Amino acid sequence: MKTAVLAMAAVLSGVVLQGQPGVAASSAIQFDAARKLWLLTTGASSYAMGVGADGTLQNLYWGPALWRLADVPAPGPRRDVSSFDPRQMMQREEYPGWGGPRYYEAALRLSRADGNRDLVLKYVSHKISGNDLDIDMSDIRDDGLRVTLHYRLYPEYGIVRRHSTVRNGTAASVTLESAQSAVYNLPLGDGYFLTHLTGRWAMETQVRREPIQEGRIVLESRKGHTSHNSNPWFAVDRGSAEEESGGVWFGALAWSGNWRITVEQTPYRQVRITGGMNDFDFSYPLKAGESLDTPAFFAGYSGNGHGGASRLMHRFENERILPGGVKAPVRPVLYNSWEATTFKVEEAGQKALADKAAKLGVELFVMDDGWFGKRNNDKAGLGDWFVNKEKFPNGLGGLIGHVRGLGMKFGLWVEPEMVNADSDLYRAHPDWVIHFPDRPRSELRQQMILNLAREDVKEHLFGVLDKLATEYPLDYLKWDMNRSFSEPGWPDAGAGEQRKLWVKYVTNYYELVDRLRAKHPGMAIESCSGGGGRIDLGVLQRVDEVWPSDNTDAFDRLKIQEGFTQAYSPKVMSAWVTDVPNMNGRSTPLAYRFLVAMQGALGIGANLNQWVDADFALGSKMVAVYKRIRATVQTGNLYRISSPRVGDMTANAYVSQDGKQAVLFAFRHAQQFNTPADPVVFRGLDEKAVYRVEPVVDGKLMGQWKEASGAWLMHNGVTLNLRGDYDAAALILERVN
Ligand code: GLA
Repeated sequence: MKTAVLAMAAVLSGVVLQGQPGVAASSAIQFDAARKLWLLTTGASSYAMGVGADGTLQNLYWGPALWRLADVPAPGPRRDVSSFDPRQMMQREEYPGWGGPRYYEAALRLSRADGNRDLVLKYVSHKISGNDLDIDMSDIRDDGLRVTLHYRLYPEYGIVRRHSTVRNGTAASVTLESAQSAVYNLPLGDGYFLTHLTGRWAMETQVRREPIQEGRIVLESRKGHTSHNSNPWFAVDRGSAEEESGGVWFGALAWSGNWRITVEQTPYRQVRITGGMNDFDFSYPLKAGESLDTPAFFAGYSGNGHGGASRLMHRFENERILPGGVKAPVRPVLYNSWEATTFKVEEAGQKALADKAAKLGVELFVMDDGWFGKRNNDKAGLGDWFVNKEKFPNGLGGLIGHVRGLGMKFGLWVEPEMVNADSDLYRAHPDWVIHFPDRPRSELRQQMILNLAREDVKEHLFGVLDKLATEYPLDYLKWDMNRSFSEPGWPDAGAGEQRKLWVKYVTNYYELVDRLRAKHPGMAIESCSGGGGRIDLGVLQRVDEVWPSDNTDAFDRLKIQEGFTQAYSPKVMSAWVTDVPNMNGRSTPLAYRFLVAMQGALGIGANLNQWVDADFALGSKMVAVYKRIRATVQTGNLYRISSPRVGDMTANAYVSQDGKQAVLFAFRHAQQFNTPADPVVFRGLDEKAVYRVEPVVDGKLMGQWKEASGAWLMHNGVTLNLRGDYDAAALILERVN
């Protein structure tokens, strides 16, 4: 009987059974119709759900891959433990409404027109189509309110994508007070640890790890953009996971506005991770017939520690998130003018820099801030996106022609969402900025934010950017956003609708970028927000590169990059070589600066007018080396061998997807007591293979051998002659057999 039920369910869901009942061979989604259970398998992990006797949808499993749906028990009936501990609190609901006796973080809270706020969601129906599962839920009163939970599996990557759609099918309007994307329930028990990324301007993506105990840890942004302070990514383990071992549950939100991830442990040893748009100052009215889609909340599980989790994410991002996917080319070596010339850009000076950049082997020349309006400092000009005729009397054509004549592509900096009070645009449209009437309009970096939630503002910005990209052959646009929101008013929207600004601003920003890309497909886009203020999976779906931090101090970058790569691919991690002394008044050698930056998408941001011949010689060599290894760095597997948070050595290895090339980068902070550097033990190689070992910097590899086996390199390691302060080495390994 059971076999028959499973076979039938298998036919319905496209499962192919191989002889044994319940063995799914080719489908990622299995469904047991009789017991109303789903088993979702993606890569090396599985996720199981079922419908309880009361109609609630409950998570039953998330962890290493399962193959036998028959093993998964249906959610059993539960009894209240006490009048203070109702049965609802013992269940691991997939998407709980705020209603009945539920006291944990709700996935959906709403208020009906008559003031009724009770919402208890129950399973209605579902649809399986390939790797997609949609589950429809309604309130127990079945008043027309529909919630659809979307699950999409990416079996080649071990990733699941979840989000929800809330549809108001009632006759009256309903106001959403919190609409989360998804809740991820972890296996019952305690002793979990949370790893997350924290920071501030010039100190983004710092790794933090802390125990999860009863209560809530809230990671969030209330700043209108993703923010430097916290990044919408998490990793959770049971206390014993390390860089290359142990189970790690991880996830990331695709949302570039106010977001929140709540990690909560209930008194019943449930750990629940709820994520989506922040419910802070959130209010989203839905008229009858309207709906809201929540942003995607991706998640996965790796049995190979934090390193394994990041490698899954990197490959997934490179191949399925970034524009162009697997077909997207490797990122070019760029030059950016900002640190060299700041606002003092003009045609002759930029041409001179371009000549020097071209000699180094740079492929893309980007002119940063200062080329438009009355932009001589940060007090004026934002909003006036026409070429400054004093700096460029003949427009940008002369410079672009020169740059292209040198064999480089050309890119331009813009900050479309912003306006200075001293600008023609603000003088013409003071009502276009985000503001409350008769309240201060706080300026940060002397600028205000255009209300992109407004259709007229959106259309104006599309017109401006489209004109720029049509008039000039732009290969690259660095899209900046240099302040956080304040006084988030939208007077024209009316009192009830004003707070839609938080959502509409972001969806219109996405639409703007998407339209621009569609019309100018050859123009790559960089996301920058005063460094790393807008980096998340939502923006990564529509840009090619991101600027992780305005801090280009190479030693500080090691920690920033360590955190960045927990969540995001080195391919998008723009990293420049700049001048010293840098932030902290620190000076590091040029080779060290190059090797730090070569671990991502290499750029140069130095004032090349001050470089001497020896700098150009070293720079040219490093750029040439980078071009040989960049496919491995940008699209390979990253092994973080030694963390900058521990000891005085940092080491990272990148191994190409085909295993033919590997690159090791090693950095020493401060040698003491004449102690030699510890051997660096490789990871990710083939023990049986032999590799040709080539040092990038002379004199750094101890020992005479030119070839070594994977076994030797991974078990004994290599000894590097790293001495003094800020010493660095790199090795290129080419597989010879
Ligand atoms: C921000 C960016 C910098 C640079 C300046 C220009 O700070 O992060 O890279 O573009 O703006 O004003």
